[in-house]
Amino acid sequence: MERAQPRSPKEDVQQAIQELKDDFVGLAKTALSERPQDIQAFIHRIAKRRRTTDDNLSRTLIELLRNNTTKSHPLRRVSEAAIPTNADTRVDLLRVEEHPHLPLEPVYDLDVWEILSRLVMERKRIGDLLNAGLEPTRTALFTGPPGVGKTLGARWVARELGVPLMILDLSTVMSSYLGRTGSNLRHVLDHAKSVDCVLLIDEFDAIAKRRDDSAEIGELKRLVTVLLQQLDDWPSTGLLIAATNHSELLDPAIWRRFEQPVKFNIPTKKGIHAYLEKLFNDIEPDMSKWIDVLSVSLVGHSYNDIEREFNLARRSAVLNGKGLEHYISCMIPVDDLSKCERTNIAAILTENDMLAKNKVRELTGVSYSAMRSHLSSDENTDSRT
Ligand SMILES: Nc1ncnc2c1ncn2[C@@H]1O[C@H](COP(=O)(O)OP(=O)(O)OP(=O)(O)O)[C@@H](O)[C@H]1O
Ligand SMILES: [Mg+2]
Repeated sequence: MERAQPRSPKEDVQQAIQELKDDFVGLAKTALSERPQDIQAFIHRIAKRRRTTDDNLSRTLIELLRNNTTKSHPLRRVSEAAIPTNADTRVDLLRVEEHPHLPLEPVYDLDVWEILSRLVMERKRIGDLLNAGLEPTRTALFTGPPGVGKTLGARWVARELGVPLMILDLSTVMSSYLGRTGSNLRHVLDHAKSVDCVLLIDEFDAIAKRRDDSAEIGELKRLVTVLLQQLDDWPSTGLLIAATNHSELLDPAIWRRFEQPVKFNIPTKKGIHAYLEKLFNDIEPDMSKWIDVLSVSLVGHSYNDIEREFNLARRSAVLNGKGLEHYISCMIPVDDLSKCERTNIAAILTENDMLAKNKVRELTGVSYSAMRSHLSSDENTDSRT
C-alpha cells in the first residue's frame, strides 16, 4: 500500500491560507444573511476548530462571543422588532410578555427546580461554557398535566434571565391558519430567533392531534419538517421551550430533538402545603390554620384548581357575607373523598378546634361518635400490629 507523502512546509502554509479563505468566505456569507445568531454560531464553530491549531485565535474569538453575549447582545430587543402578524387577519402570531411577572413564586419538586435553575445558570455563565468548548442547552420540552406550572416555569426562566417571554400557541396557529401554517410557523420562529428572548411553544401536541385527518396530512408533514429543522438549527443564543400535556401523542422523532425533557407532576401533599403557605401568607394570613387540613384533602388537584377554588372562596365571602372561613372550609372536596378520608379530616378539624362538632358533621358527613369509634378502632389495629 502506498504511504501518504508528508506535506512540505510550503504545502502546510498553502493549506492554512486555504482554510483562512474558507472561513472568511463562510463568515461573509453568514454576515450577509444579517442573522446575528447564525454569525455567532459560525464564529463559535471556527473557535472550536482552531482550538488545537491556534489557541490564541480561538481564545480571542471566544472572548468576543462572551462579551457580545453579556454586554452588547447582538440580538435585537423585542421592542425594536416587529412581531409577525398573519397576512390575512393581521393577528399577532406571538404573545409577548416583555417583563415576565409572577404574582407568586412557583412550587416545584426538587428535580424540576434543579433543571430550571441549571437552564438559567448555563446562560448566566455562558462564558465559562464557551471557554470549555460547550454551548448552553438550546431546547427543552416541558410535559405534564394541566395547571401544574409548565407555562409558569417558562415565565420564571425568562424572568430570571431578564429577557421577554414570547409565547406561540401552536393550536391557535394551526386552527386559524391551516393551509399556510408552515410558512407562518417559519416566519414566527425566524423572528423569535432574532430577538433576545425565551420562546415558549405552547400546546405542542396540537401538531400531533390532527395527524389522522387525511385531508391535512400533506400540510402536517410540511409543518413537522419545519419544526424538526428549526429544533435542529435553533441557535444557542436563544432558549426554545415547548410545552404539552399530551406527551404521549408526540412523534418520537420530535421527542428526540429536545435536549432537555422536564416532567412536571401533579402536586404531592408536601407541594400543596408549600403552595398554600405562600398563597395564604401572602393574601389571607388569618386563614393559615386551614393549611394542614386542605393539603391532606386536596391531593390529586392541580395548583391551578386550588388557586381557582381559593379565589372563588374569597369572592363568595365578599358577595355572600358568610365569612371567609366558611368558604375556605368548602374548599375541602368532601364529595370526592372516601369515608375513611372524611373521617380523618373530621378528626383533624375536631382535634384542632377548628370547627364546632355539629359543623364538622355538616361538612364531612361524619358524626363525632363515628369519628371517635373509627379512631379508637384504628388505635386498636395499631396496637395489634
Ligand atoms: N407549580 C406551581 N407553583 C405555583 N403556582 C402554580 C404552579 N402551577 C400552576 N400554578 C398556578 O396555576 C396557574 C396556571 O399554571 P400554568 O399556566 O403554568 O399551568 P400549565 O402547566 O402550563 O397548564 P396547561 O397545560 O393547562 O397549559 C399559574 O398561573 C399559577 O397561578
Ligand atoms: Mg400552559
